[in-house]
Amino acid sequence: MNKRAIITGTGRYLPPQVVTNFDLEKIMNTTDDWIQQRSGIKERHYAEGGVGSSDLAVEAARKAIESAGIDKSEIDFIIAATIAPDHYFPGIGVMIQAKLGLAPIGALDIRNQCSGFIYALSVADQYIRTGTYKKILLCAAEVQSHNLDYSDEGRDMAVLFGDGGAAVILEPNPADDGRGILSTHLYADGRFMRDLWMEQPSSARKPTFDREVFEERRFFPRMDGKNVFKNACERMPEAVQTALARNGLTVADVNLLIPHQANDRISQMVAKKLQIPIEKVGRNIDRYGNTTAASIPILLDEAVREGRLKRGDCLVLTSFGSGFTWASAAIRW
Ligand code: UT7
Repeated sequence: MNKRAIITGTGRYLPPQVVTNFDLEKIMNTTDDWIQQRSGIKERHYAEGGVGSSDLAVEAARKAIESAGIDKSEIDFIIAATIAPDHYFPGIGVMIQAKLGLAPIGALDIRNQCSGFIYALSVADQYIRTGTYKKILLCAAEVQSHNLDYSDEGRDMAVLFGDGGAAVILEPNPADDGRGILSTHLYADGRFMRDLWMEQPSSARKPTFDREVFEERRFFPRMDGKNVFKNACERMPEAVQTALARNGLTVADVNLLIPHQANDRISQMVAKKLQIPIEKVGRNIDRYGNTTAASIPILLDEAVREGRLKRGDCLVLTSFGSGFTWASAAIRW
């Protein structure tokens, strides 16, 4: 039988600068009250100029490698998820590889926004199960603060997003004890791509960059917050139920649910719909805001380091975001 993939190491890295809601009040038309009431966010971290998503990923990767107790030379494949690559191309996978000194192993980039981590996990899972790779480094990192619209037009998004990175190491479980990734479930509905997107720069635009792109300000991310909110509250519980049903589990079996941290009101709604006690739901958006692909592995690393996960626990992940894309994963820890 093919061996299941287990997560043997985790790490996270948040850039040191903490930006509170009060700091945002000083640079834009918003209030701490509004942000806390609508999203549960109190503060987030911002990267300095000159620091890109690949830099956060590398810092997180070093910690994940250390926690897995392996030497970096043992890693045989890299998967990286981000919506904010350092460059239009190449992706951050190769940058992480070069910065860690791991040439010439393969480096794959995943573009699935808030669902990037679970999509990446599903890919890693297949490679491990087929025996293709034995030690995969999976990174998710986002520097979003450098391209948010802090004017009234973009304030709905600007207050929500933060920067951060996280990484995990995946290996085949040598034991036949049922631990590992049980299943992953991936979904998308591209008809809603414009409900949360960054339209420019676009390869369809000729020329890709010109004065008009800047004047029309279409290079900032835009969102139909209400529609994203509504769909997130429906799709995440559905995806969790699918993951549980696939594995003959029920909500009562779940020890920890980690939903993508988009808005604490969404996480509470997901808990309510699933009728899972809120204490079993991972939540840290108050400190980091929405870190897109990095939010789930950041929370996972915190849970691991706080001792919230015991061997054999049932861990469920779920996400919803731009695309629309959504996903879930059931893991026997
Ligand atoms: O990872 C997935 C990505 N994103 C999400 O999951 C986000 C999903 N959506 C949301 O979290 C919520 O829709 C928001 C937090 C973005 C907005 O909350 P809302 O309760 O849907 O507020 P709203 O968009 O209806 O805006 C209410 C008011 C508006 O003013 P008027 O038209 O009522 O006068 C906005 O202009 O709040 C105003 N507003 C703000 N006020 C202060 C919007 N952004 C801000 C702001 N500060 N930052």
